[in-house]
Amino acid sequence: MKMLLLLSVLTTLSLVVGVDRGNFKSCDQSGFCRRNRNMQPGESPYYLLMNNLKVSPTKIESRLANAKTGVLYTLEISALMDGMLRMKINEATPIRQRFEATEALNGEPKETSLKLVSQNSEGMTIEFGKNKAIIHANPFRLDVYSGDQHVISANTRGLMKFEHYRTKEQPKPENQEQEGPANQVEEEKPAAEVEDMDGAWEEHFKSHADSKPFGPSSVGMDFSFVGFKHVYGIPEHADAFSLKQTKGSTDPYRLYNLDVFQFEVNNPMALYGSVPFMVAHSDIKTVGLLWLNAAETWIDIEPATQQSVVSSIVDFVKGSTQLPQTDTHWFSESGIIDVFFLPGPGPKDVMKQNAILSGTTPLPPYFSIAYHQCRWNYNDQEDVRNVDANFDEHDIPYDVIWLDIEHTDGKKYFTWDNHKFPNPEEMINNVTAKGRKMVTIIDPHIKRDSGYHIHSEATSKGYYVKNKDGHDYDGWCWPGSSGYLDFVNPEVRDWWASKFGLDHYKGSTLQLFTWNDMNEPSVFNGPEVTMHKDAKHYGSWEHRDLHNMYGILMTMSTYKGHLQRSNGHLRSFLLSRAFFVGSQRYGAVWTGDNTADWDHLRITVPMLLSMSISGITFCGADVGGFFMNPDAELLVRWYQAGAFQPFFRAHSHLETKRREPWLFDAETKQLIRAAIQKRYSLLPYWYTLFMENEQNGMPPMRPLWMEFPSDQTTFDMDDEYMIGSSLLVHPVMESKATNVEVYFPGENQVWYDVDNYQKFNGLESSTIPVTMSKIPVFQRGGTIIAKRERMRRSSSLSHDDPYTLIVALDKTGQFANGNLYIDDGHTFQYKQGEYIYQGFSFKKDTLTNHALQGSEKFETKAWLEKVIIIGISTEPKTVQVESHDFGKKNLLFTYKSSTQLLIIRKPAVNIEAEWSIKLLF
Ligand code: GLC
Repeated sequence: MKMLLLLSVLTTLSLVVGVDRGNFKSCDQSGFCRRNRNMQPGESPYYLLMNNLKVSPTKIESRLANAKTGVLYTLEISALMDGMLRMKINEATPIRQRFEATEALNGEPKETSLKLVSQNSEGMTIEFGKNKAIIHANPFRLDVYSGDQHVISANTRGLMKFEHYRTKEQPKPENQEQEGPANQVEEEKPAAEVEDMDGAWEEHFKSHADSKPFGPSSVGMDFSFVGFKHVYGIPEHADAFSLKQTKGSTDPYRLYNLDVFQFEVNNPMALYGSVPFMVAHSDIKTVGLLWLNAAETWIDIEPATQQSVVSSIVDFVKGSTQLPQTDTHWFSESGIIDVFFLPGPGPKDVMKQNAILSGTTPLPPYFSIAYHQCRWNYNDQEDVRNVDANFDEHDIPYDVIWLDIEHTDGKKYFTWDNHKFPNPEEMINNVTAKGRKMVTIIDPHIKRDSGYHIHSEATSKGYYVKNKDGHDYDGWCWPGSSGYLDFVNPEVRDWWASKFGLDHYKGSTLQLFTWNDMNEPSVFNGPEVTMHKDAKHYGSWEHRDLHNMYGILMTMSTYKGHLQRSNGHLRSFLLSRAFFVGSQRYGAVWTGDNTADWDHLRITVPMLLSMSISGITFCGADVGGFFMNPDAELLVRWYQAGAFQPFFRAHSHLETKRREPWLFDAETKQLIRAAIQKRYSLLPYWYTLFMENEQNGMPPMRPLWMEFPSDQTTFDMDDEYMIGSSLLVHPVMESKATNVEVYFPGENQVWYDVDNYQKFNGLESSTIPVTMSKIPVFQRGGTIIAKRERMRRSSSLSHDDPYTLIVALDKTGQFANGNLYIDDGHTFQYKQGEYIYQGFSFKKDTLTNHALQGSEKFETKAWLEKVIIIGISTEPKTVQVESHDFGKKNLLFTYKSSTQLLIIRKPAVNIEAEWSIKLLF
């Protein structure tokens, strides 16, 4: 109770104070971070034993040795699909197994052929796909080439470190120092004592001790991105999209899933999720690197330059040219070195390669990409009924209402507070009667209450994580004293999954979905508000080994539960706060507890871009800001930004003022309604992008350079991005803004303001005036977007509604293309071919549709209501539609020469039937 009181005081206080940095370790306070960061370049003791080489059709295997310690390591370099290369280094004869984070991968990556092209005592060259790599023996170093271009070097600076497991040396008896002979032996021994042992065997942070029973175990290596000035990714940090230099200025970027109370923007501190995946991009190449390690990880970044072989030949003629380079240094507290090199060569290739490794977001159910209404808390059934009814009353579409922790009986998940929620099923059915859904929160900490079935089962079955002494780990979270389920154990995951069965989760229905929060895991009284690193998991792993995977293992299990409860028929939706490599396979992620201020609104863009390019594509931020109270202007601007981000949910802290849209003045309400309506009208486009994302890994929200790879102006943008390949968004994120400066990328590219069809040229910036209702969004010339303009109460009610096609012509005024994907929106029948995926194309004077990946198995009643053609210089005399059903028919249209806009009314053809619309001049 005291603890809760204290927390509540802290919560209130921190509404003013901001992050308490003292709660979280700096690099200086972490032994392995110091040991790795203090290493000096150019002294690598690791060398390759060339006489140990084993060459098989897909891999090279050998041994590495540490010249200082004599310890041996296994080295495996294998070729993977799509031109990727994997390098795995482990101890050859460990006294204890080392953790491998392979469960994060989308299955074991398939190996393909690799060729040893040359070999001598100094190293070897291998070829795989169109790429090659040169392996240098002493010191060990790997140079990876994408095609002919040297793109990544591993261990060039010699910062590799692999702390082998060892037994702790017993302290010497005091008098031993005087004994001459023993002293001499010590001096001759080359091993452990010459290593930096700072903080290796025990560490303290605040009042917490980390017993480190297995001693030092860190692994580290440097990677140089040759030819690259910009690197991106490694979420989650509240920092710029193009990653900043850390070496010599700040701590390294830290990846350690943490519940950071009131996080600050613009710093490299760890947050709730970790994806050790980096993308390097230049105007000629894009490459990626995945450091597959689930332990605490830090990454140092520093710009450098390099004299390339090619440029030094050219230098004879041109004088000195240097390639830009970004040097990075990665180190993790335990585990192995398991690195994947993604050769690109373009940004879309890297996205596909990452998708092969870590999987993609399965197509979300349609409702989940619509608008979500959340708050800590909707208090009782009456509250839910009112909020739900008010959306109708005020004519604002919404799809999902969320219940936070207060809906439970004393923070016991899978239960209901009987007074506040006496008839949960009825409540859910009332909401779903309008095509809407509900979500309840289910956290991983389990109240230690003997009357709570989940706790008593977990205890008797031994399903909790154990502390270092082997007893059930006991930590504080929302319910007070709690046990933490050990999701590392597959049996626990199956058991947890079964709890989502409708027979187990009383009061739930198939329309109720799940929010997994606090799964870093958050432990209020633990070191850095998380679990002790010496806690023990199934399989004798220490928490230290797999900390960053705790959250994904939980969502893996919840996801399974969702599928099982409908016998695999219905799609899942879940939201998680913690995440890791591969979390996208299980659901959506949000950026956690942000604050209602302009800085936090602005940081949503780089944060969501970093997540998106790292595979975490279904991502969003609390609209309005979680802590504090946004004023009307900030709230409106946040809705306008959120409506154009992948996961769109308003959420707020328990102690903030209620902020449902109708509680504001009429104008504010109207502005919020309009923003949400814009989202709804573009749902067909978002849904198509999510389907394509499942297929090819391309994130719906993407940086400009993903579409315009050679446009350098776009490389460090934090305020502008693309949705798919057709829309450019520059949300208004400044208070009292009267205009925004928008950069339009692309040579020979034209852009159209979606509100007034004003035309802009690529490679130019323009000052766009903004009023409170303006969301600066631009459609790329040459694209076609399918929209829905009729507004319904929820997305599912629009399923058969007609479409409007927005055809934005390219610079020549002659061409445009676009896609539309349709299915039932909630089952897996699309995997059986029950979908429509079609292309629209406009050529010269005719708009046609055609099946892209044809399937006859899905039918829709939806028809084409309107076509808007932008950028057409002459007014047609006649517009004619032709279809199998009714032959040819003339259509009504209007033309505005000032904006070169043609609006064609009611073609009234079924969207999937074959048809064409011809303009006759
Ligand atoms: C955490 C979540 C927040 C939620 C609260 C209560 O702070 O990040 O979204 O409302 O817990 O469950």
